[in-house]
Amino acid sequence: MNDVVIAPSILAADCGRLNEEIKEVEKETSFLHIDVMDGHYVPNLTFGVPIVESIRKATNMVFDVHLMVTNPMDFFKPFADAGADMLTFHVETVEDPDEAIEAIRKLGKRAGISIHPDTPIEKVFPYAAKCDLVLVMTVRPGFGGQHFMESSIDRIKAVRKVIDDAKADTIISVDGGICKETAPRVVSAGAGYLVAGSAVFSNKDHAAAIKELRTCAMS
Ligand code: DX5
Ligand code: ZN
Repeated sequence: MNDVVIAPSILAADCGRLNEEIKEVEKETSFLHIDVMDGHYVPNLTFGVPIVESIRKATNMVFDVHLMVTNPMDFFKPFADAGADMLTFHVETVEDPDEAIEAIRKLGKRAGISIHPDTPIEKVFPYAAKCDLVLVMTVRPGFGGQHFMESSIDRIKAVRKVIDDAKADTIISVDGGICKETAPRVVSAGAGYLVAGSAVFSNKDHAAAIKELRTCAMS
């Protein structure tokens, strides 16, 4: 089995010590998940362009920017310029996902498409093989620390089938409620990239938590 990627979500970090928190997780993974929320698409506000610019100076980690905003097309360039490496938008938020994927690729960045748990999974099928990453939300987006939604398992399997049928190498990512118990289950269903907030940052030893999650995920 290929190595499973664990991407810590800084939503659960101690933001007053963000650079130190990043140095900790960097010991065990190269991917960092950054949640951008606008208070419209989701009922919460989080990180903007200046934060990404600042933390970019502190690390070479791959920045995986998850855009939970109603107008993601307006933000691809600002986040790309600030140092994002991967840009993921929600299928619900754009008129033409193909255009969005192309806009991200034109900026030289990896393109991800995400889907809300309340949206029929079929909506993402036409784009799955065209993206670098499909992010199947496993909680309702907006907040960390929620319970994993059981219905996600069948949704991951369905996307896995579409990608395999197309012989594409798109990665399936999951986000929300990922812990030692849910990690192996999402991996068996077909995910290879696991975002984890609370499971990483609630453990004082963040690097050890990442290592443990990866071990569980691959067991
Ligand atoms: C939720 C965010 C997640 C969040 C996950 O909308 O997209 O990235 O940080 O948090 P946990 O792992 O605590 O469920
Ligand atoms: Zn996220």
